Amino acid sequence: MEIQRYSTTAIIIHWLMAIMIIAMICMGVYMADLPKGSEERTWFFTLHKSIGLTLALLAIIRLIWKLISTSPPLPDIVSATHQKMATVTHHLLYLMLFIQPVSGYISSSFTKYSTKFWGIPLPRWADKNPEMNELFTQIHEISAIFLVILLVMHIAGVVYHMKRKETELFKRMWFG
Ligand code: HEM
Ligand code: HEM
Repeated sequence: MEIQRYSTTAIIIHWLMAIMIIAMICMGVYMADLPKGSEERTWFFTLHKSIGLTLALLAIIRLIWKLISTSPPLPDIVSATHQKMATVTHHLLYLMLFIQPVSGYISSSFTKYSTKFWGIPLPRWADKNPEMNELFTQIHEISAIFLVILLVMHIAGVVYHMKRKETELFKRMWFG
């Protein structure tokens, strides 16, 4: 049976973002506990913000691509319930691809530091506000936890189908 793959563009963006997001989750957890005012903390925060904003741009490109192209339908071997679960997980993952960087950017905007995008300072649109910073930092943390839960479900779904020797499901999101 012919495997219906995602387009090469969708595959490249999927894996590029997957690697970057997993690295960002590890980096975020690591850097949050670094001593305040340390050079290492500043270095990681600056890098985290630049990669995070790059991910926001990639999410916009990805969403546009998703809307203008057609995703290959899942084969019939996947039960209707699993098809629904996959669709809901994918939609929620898309939502988190936006909530995660936007909450990070808003929280950073309420600090005294200007947010830089690979060295370019972005225009300031908010003054320092510790309460708002705290609120959006918490949203950023909670949404990271939700993202990790979705990711575990997503990967578990893929592994489940591979275990049942339905390896073509993985190949749908792989080059070939
Ligand atoms: C942060 C990491 C990840 C995110 C945000 C993510 C997101 C998504 C989304 C939204 C889709 C639906 C296709 C689309 O519309 O683009 C998808 C499909 C897929 N992902 Fe991921 N993914 C991630 C990591 C992974 C990993 C680590 C694996 C490997 C186990 C994986 C394997 C797949 C496969 C095989 C599909 C195709 C499913 C199908 O047959 O329809 N993904 N992913
Ligand atoms: C998809 C993109 C992103 C992911 C996956 C991500 C993930 C994370 C994670 C897991 C943490 C650690 C939370 C904790 O345990 O305290 C974190 C912290 C942080 N992130 Fe992000 N982030 C992203 C984008 C951004 C962006 C775009 C910005 C700002 C422009 C940002 C700013 C921050 C800041 C300032 C912290 C530290 C919060 C604190 O003070 O503890 N993040 N991020």
